[in-house]
Amino acid sequence: MYLITGAAGFIGFHVSLELLRNNKIVIGVDNINNYYDQKIKYDRLKILKQFSKFKFLKINLNNKKNFSKKINRYKNKIEIIIHLAGQAGVRYSIINPSSYISNNIMSYIHLLEFFKNSSKIKLIMYASSSSIYGEIGSKSSISSQPQTKPISVYSASKLSMELISNAYCYLYKKKFIGVRFFSVYGPWGRPDMFYFKFLKKIKDNQPIEIYNYGNHHRSFTYIDDVVLNLMKLINKFKNHKKTLCDVFNIGNPNSISLKKFIKVLETTVGKKANKKYIKKHPGDVTITRSNISREKKIFNHEIKVSLNRGIEKLINWHRSYYK
Ligand SMILES: NC(=O)c1ccc[n+]([C@@H]2O[C@H](COP(=O)([O-])OP(=O)(O)OC[C@H]3O[C@@H](n4cnc5c(N)ncnc54)[C@H](O)[C@@H]3O)[C@@H](O)[C@H]2O)c1
Repeated sequence: MYLITGAAGFIGFHVSLELLRNNKIVIGVDNINNYYDQKIKYDRLKILKQFSKFKFLKINLNNKKNFSKKINRYKNKIEIIIHLAGQAGVRYSIINPSSYISNNIMSYIHLLEFFKNSSKIKLIMYASSSSIYGEIGSKSSISSQPQTKPISVYSASKLSMELISNAYCYLYKKKFIGVRFFSVYGPWGRPDMFYFKFLKKIKDNQPIEIYNYGNHHRSFTYIDDVVLNLMKLINKFKNHKKTLCDVFNIGNPNSISLKKFIKVLETTVGKKANKKYIKKHPGDVTITRSNISREKKIFNHEIKVSLNRGIEKLINWHRSYYK
C-alpha cells in the first residue's frame, strides 16, 4: 500500500494515477489548501476517485493529532510513502516564509514521527527541489555534492527536509530518497506557475511580465518523465536491504532559456504574447541545470519527452480544460 501526500496537487496527482493504473492501492492525503485555485485540485481528485483502489483523506499534516487519528487504521499496511505535500513556490516564500516552516518542515516531522517505528515501511520518498543548489546550480548541480547555497526560504525549507531525513535515517534505520525536481510542467499543472499565467494572458490578450528579461535558464521537465523516473527509483530501492539516505536529481539535463520556452509556447499556440520584460525577482536563481550523470548510472534516469512534444501536450490539455 502506498501513501501519497499532496495527492490533489500537480505531481501527487500524476504519481497516484500511475500507481492506480498499475493496480496499486493508494491512500491519498491532502488538505486542499487555497494557495492556488482549489477547483483544479477537486477535479484531479475526481479522476483519482474513479479507481476503487484509491482512498482520499482530507488531512492537514500540520495538525498532528488529526493526522494520527485519521491515518492510524492504515499504519500497518502502508509500505511506501511518497511525500509530495508541501508549500511550493519560491516567490511566495518572500511574502509568507512561515508557511514553508509549517507546511514543509513541521508537516514532514509529524509524518516521520508517526511512521518512525512502523516496521512495514520499505521506503520514504520526499520532494526536495533544484532550488537548493542556489546560484551554484549553474555550474554544479551534482546530487552527491553536499555544498548547496539556498537563496530563498523555500529552498532552505527543502534543504532542511534533506537534513531531517538524514537524522531519521540514522535514528530509525529507514530508507529515504529525496528527489530534487527541476521545473516540472505538463497537463494538470500548477496555476501559479509561469507557463499557466502565460497561457491565460495570451488567451485574454493581456500583457505578461517576464522576469530577468527572459534570461533565466531552467531544466524544464515534462511530468511523464518525472513519474517515469520516480517509478524507476521505487523499483530500484523498495527491496533494498540496507538503510539508505540519498538524494537524486529528477530533471531534464537540457537547460533552456525562458525566452526559448516562450517561443515554443507562442509557436504552438499560434499567437504572439504581449511581453513586458522586467528585472530579476529576488529569490529566483538564474540558472538550473540538472546534472544526471550519477542518476543515469544508479537507476538509468531517462528523459523521453522533447520540449516541443511536451508543450504540445500541455497546450492541448489546457485548451480542453479551460474551454
Ligand atoms: N512542480 C515543480 O516544478 C516542483 C519543483 C521542485 C519541487 N517541487 C516540490 O514537489 C512537491 C509537489 O509539488 P507540486 O508542484 O505538485 O505542488 P502542488 O502545490 O500542486 O501540490 C502540493 C499539495 O500539497 C498540499 N498540501 C500543502 N500543505 C499541506 C499540508 N500541510 N497538509 C496536507 N497537504 C498539504 C496542497 O494542498 C497541494 O495540493 C512540493 O513539495 C514542491 O515544493 C515541485
